[in-house]
Amino acid sequence: MRAGRVVASARDAMVAAVDPGITTGELDAIGRDIFRNFGARSAPRLTYNFPGSTCISLNSEAAHGIPSLTRTLHQGDLVNIDVSAELDGYWADTGASTPVGEVSALAERLLGATRLAQLEAMNAARAGGKLRNIGRAVQRRARQSGFCVIKNLYGHGIGRALHEEPSVPSIDDHQQLRLWEGLVLAVEPFFSVSAHYVIDDADGWTLRTDDESLVAQFEHTMVVTSGEPLVLTY
Ligand code: CO
Ligand code: CO
Repeated sequence: MRAGRVVASARDAMVAAVDPGITTGELDAIGRDIFRNFGARSAPRLTYNFPGSTCISLNSEAAHGIPSLTRTLHQGDLVNIDVSAELDGYWADTGASTPVGEVSALAERLLGATRLAQLEAMNAARAGGKLRNIGRAVQRRARQSGFCVIKNLYGHGIGRALHEEPSVPSIDDHQQLRLWEGLVLAVEPFFSVSAHYVIDDADGWTLRTDDESLVAQFEHTMVVTSGEPLVLTY
């Protein structure tokens, strides 16, 4: 799916440009230009009139951070870049947290655990299997790594719109829904050092951990099959 390739290449270009001294507005412009080159449109702008082409969130901010030319990345920050777009009527969504220069050992461990949780979550999604297996996989990884799952942020169906049914909890919600072949999901667990919930920031967009602890997310858009997931945003 072309939309998947666009968001993946924007994410990778933005992550590669992360460095102390760059502003989140400059990073956003890299994504905006890639969308433009492919003829793609920013999903958050199109769907929610978000004031940016991508969402860029720092440290205790989990999601929907507003890019700004006056907001500079500093050595030791953890930055999350979330990129979603529409192309030819198809939508794709991806995200990655990444260190700015050298970060603490705790931040490195958080990144590693969250990345692994995202992979295990995708692998738990099988046609005929239950949706709740995704949340169970995330919770298992959180337990084993000593981090906390953010309970009030979900993955989602995606395809002909940014957010479609079903929503994909990162915890076991005991639902009985079964997955089917060809279902497209955005799988996006968030782990934090000590928070279980995010709250709205005063800016009306940013979601931050309720105890200001560090948070990380990885996200891919994937197709459910009876075997290995088909990931569209690698
Ligand atoms: Co996203
Ligand atoms: Co998403």
